[in-house]
Amino acid sequence: MKTLRTKSTVALEEFQEETRILRNLNHPNILRIYGLLFRSDGVNYIVTEYCSKGAMDQLLSRKKFTLGDLGRMAVQVALGMQYIHKCRILHRDLAARNLLVSGKTGNYHVKVSDFGMSKVLLEEEWVAPPDAKMPIRWTAPEVLKEKRYSFSSDIWSFAVTLWELLSFGGVPYSELSNNEVCRKVTEGYRLSKPQGCPDELWNVVLWCSEYEPKARPTFQQISDKLSSVILELDSIQSVNSEEELGETPPQIVELKNEKGDYIEYSKSVFKEDQNV
Ligand SMILES: Nc1ncnc2c1ncn2[C@@H]1O[C@H](COP(=O)(O)OP(=O)(O)O)[C@@H](O)[C@H]1O
Ligand SMILES: [Mg+2]
Repeated sequence: MKTLRTKSTVALEEFQEETRILRNLNHPNILRIYGLLFRSDGVNYIVTEYCSKGAMDQLLSRKKFTLGDLGRMAVQVALGMQYIHKCRILHRDLAARNLLVSGKTGNYHVKVSDFGMSKVLLEEEWVAPPDAKMPIRWTAPEVLKEKRYSFSSDIWSFAVTLWELLSFGGVPYSELSNNEVCRKVTEGYRLSKPQGCPDELWNVVLWCSEYEPKARPTFQQISDKLSSVILELDSIQSVNSEEELGETPPQIVELKNEKGDYIEYSKSVFKEDQNV
């Protein structure tokens, strides 16, 4: 359940935009929305399916993944992103922290979530306003330089996300400050290859972080490429030596259904998907 406590109309508009985008999406690798609750006291909720393993960035530092697991999870992200791009939605905040995980070793299920920055992109490009916030370390050079967003800028963020997976939860450009990342990435500086990363996967990171947006692949090309390499990955041993520390405990939040505040709640969707 995602909560927004505000009386600010800008924040509320952003929250409503997120729900508007999410409620129309239906794909196994996109977080499913079950209900919306807008309350007159300014506390608003989005009720979504629950992903038992929580956010990928946290999980990467706690759990032992095989390269096969990582490859399969990356394919799922690419499939989810391929779907939202087909719906002409730009995510703008693709990162391991916004991937939610359920399932277990050999059979993880990954969902792309957090559509708080998403935008419907009808043109080829969208130039963000000068004060637009952006996650610097996940952002493509043409956005850092000129705020020029396109589907290819999500592909760049995928490269950084894949790097997070392959480095088992590393911080991108941890050696640099945000200002240095901005300057150096626009000058051609790149993430370095994580220890033990197979060339087949590293080549995907490089392809997705081509300087020219048009030189980057589409998510269709990425999922095809990754699907062809994951078969070989199970035979390569994982380089993550950290011990598994157990599961994230579920967080329980009380939802009060006050009369008049209730906007939408789809029970049929909940019934269908509750075992996911
Ligand atoms: N459906 C869910 N299942 C499990 N954990 C979730 C779910 N939704 C959110 N979370 C947890 O809450 C965190 C923040 O959620 P997110 O939607 O990314 O909000 P924010 O806009 O604050 O970044 C996630 O990183 C994850 O740990
Ligand atoms: Mg988030």
